[in-house]
Amino acid sequence: MSRYSRIAGTGSYLPPRRVTNQDLAAELATRGIETSDDWIVERTGIRARHFVDAGVNVSDLAAEACRRALEAAGREAASVDLIIVATSTPDMVFPSSAAILQHKLGIAGCPAFDVQAVCSGFVYALTVADAMIRTGSASRALVVGAEVFSRILDFDDRTTCVLFGDGAGAVVLEASDEPGILATDLHADGKHVGILCVPGTVAGGKVLGDPFVKMDGQAVFKLAVGVLEDSARATLAKAGRTDADIDWLIPHQANIRIMQGTARKLKLPLDKLVVTVDQHGNTSAASIPLALDAAVREGKVRRGDTVMLEGVGGGFTWGAVLLDF
Ligand code: ACO
Repeated sequence: MSRYSRIAGTGSYLPPRRVTNQDLAAELATRGIETSDDWIVERTGIRARHFVDAGVNVSDLAAEACRRALEAAGREAASVDLIIVATSTPDMVFPSSAAILQHKLGIAGCPAFDVQAVCSGFVYALTVADAMIRTGSASRALVVGAEVFSRILDFDDRTTCVLFGDGAGAVVLEASDEPGILATDLHADGKHVGILCVPGTVAGGKVLGDPFVKMDGQAVFKLAVGVLEDSARATLAKAGRTDADIDWLIPHQANIRIMQGTARKLKLPLDKLVVTVDQHGNTSAASIPLALDAAVREGKVRRGDTVMLEGVGGGFTWGAVLLDF
């Protein structure tokens, strides 16, 4: 009998502080920076995002999302034997946010590690967890995307600070006789490091270089549209499925124009596209599991539906996961 991995439950958490475009524009105006709700909505589809308060870390958001995912799955934290956190904004340089999360969930012993693939992080983490479950290294994993991007935003740079938000999403992924995850597809091309990066680092007791997000938005936009179609097609081919089999498309939530462009290329009606970017902004590795959980709780994604998850981001990294929910 074949062994597969399958999502048993989803959960997510947004920090309570909701910042609308109008709130952000008013805040930026106090710094002499001009932006508007109209500009942000027209270029990105974003209307609001959530920001953490001081002292709240990725592991705090992740812990809440995991508790909700475990509750939805009807599983105890003690039964988890693998934790993977996708994040670019970890609590500390080390140890991993996954290890800190493990302790916050009141468990110990199982492997716990972070995956760093920026906005593609969740599809990377899900792919790793799927492989570990299928080969018998794990039986029940918490796979998490969590970010506090507000910590690495330069609020004097209107070209980036209006785009991102904080949050966390999680799934309980467990061994199953039935798929589950049907196919996965991951890629990276490091020659594009410079178009999307946080170039700073910590050295000699200081921050060395620039610790804020830098992005060439148009270069990212052009690359993203092409690779998202290619990766979706590669994943469908591996699974022996076609565009017509997709019930829900859940791409990385960065920009509504990229998301709608991808849906059109896959010949999907726009009502099969799950959209949370309007309310969450771009939450990087958290965006896909946040959107998945929202769609599940709204009753859109149901058991048996075929779902295409797609990530794209810094690295440059991209990839997709096709699954039967
Ligand atoms: N408010 C008002 N005006 C602004 C703002 C702002 N917040 N930001 C930029 N502008 C101005 C610019 O200065 C420019 O003015 P100019 O014409 O006088 O020079 C004008 O608006 C147009 O700027 P562009 O950068 O050309 O705007 P564009 O249409 O490309 O939209 C955006 C920018 C939204 C960033 C878009 O390029 C984009 O979404 N790119 C993709 C981002 C993405 O997908 N990221 C995913 C990965 S993220 C990750 O991995 C961390």
